[in-house]
Amino acid sequence: MKQKIVTGITATGKLTLGNYIGAIKNLINLQDQYDLFIFVADLHALTTYIDPEQLRKNKKDIFALYLACGLDPEKVTLFFQSDISAHSELNWIITSITNMGELSRMTQFKDKTQNIVKQENGTETIPVGLFVYPSLMSADIILYNPTYVSVGIDQKQHLELCQKLVKRLNKKYNLNFNEPKPLISKIGSKIKSLQDPFLKMSKSDKNENSSIYLLDDPEKAYKKIQKAVTDGENKIYISEDKPGILNLLTIFASLKDITLEEAEQHFKNKNYKDLKEEVGILVKNFLESIQKKYKKTLEQIETISKIGKERASKIANENLLNIKKAFGLK
Ligand code: TYM
Repeated sequence: MKQKIVTGITATGKLTLGNYIGAIKNLINLQDQYDLFIFVADLHALTTYIDPEQLRKNKKDIFALYLACGLDPEKVTLFFQSDISAHSELNWIITSITNMGELSRMTQFKDKTQNIVKQENGTETIPVGLFVYPSLMSADIILYNPTYVSVGIDQKQHLELCQKLVKRLNKKYNLNFNEPKPLISKIGSKIKSLQDPFLKMSKSDKNENSSIYLLDDPEKAYKKIQKAVTDGENKIYISEDKPGILNLLTIFASLKDITLEEAEQHFKNKNYKDLKEEVGILVKNFLESIQKKYKKTLEQIETISKIGKERASKIANENLLNIKKAFGLK
């Protein structure tokens, strides 16, 4: 039997090149050897207010983009999180074995609540969903009992919490779930914002120029790369002290399927203008090829998500039942 990998993308906004390089691209290479459970995390999108129409659109776009990027529905199980009620049910059970202290230590929670406080002029309205979100994420994973969870570096802390919760679940309730290991891509596990290369490229960034969206007009994406923040040196080499350059080299290497060192070698005697030009063209061509397929894959969502729902709920319900029995609910 193939080993399982689980992963998801939250339906809060438009998919970025960071999501592709850090999360999706890896999956394309793994789909032959592993049994992949990949979902659109729509329940996760409710942690802060989202317009219902917007959520419906995000869900569809992410699903269609998973397919357009090259995930093969014959090989992987692709579904919407909220189509499988076991996610919500296990969420409550897992939340009940999570401690407040553990959730308070999550850096993403701290970052996001800071923004909320700022946005609302000091009024502290922190949605509980934002706080307990890592418990839902753990439930998402445990339901499929995978060997690995594929994520970018920003989700590592959530995954470590999941491992801790699995240990607790096994010990207290005499169960035997896997402690899922992180699967983090070697290149581009944290693609940076084009406008502030100390921050990650994010779906929820307010500045449109910070992120390349997979559905951006390719010409516009090219221009965003030309405007990317770099430094004054005009020499291209790998260094943590040159985050803007390192980011562009990482995007180049990942889309070309070469190492960072090979990318550095390629630009050895070139300048920043050359780098931006080549990365810009590469990104533009990449978006064009995805968007061509996306128009077709939009029409396949209903059929494929139905098959995915059936396959995923079978496994999810079996694992949920075992947990319910162990807790005395059955
Ligand atoms: P989300 O939606 O923020 O991101 C989806 C995936 O993309 C990765 N990622 C990045 N990788 C590289 N560079 C970036 N700039 C970048 N931005 C995002 C993320 O690490 C992630 O792998 N909580 C998750 C969704 C989720 C999930 C799960 C994931 C819900 N349940 C269970 C795995 C397993 C999230 O919000 O990811």
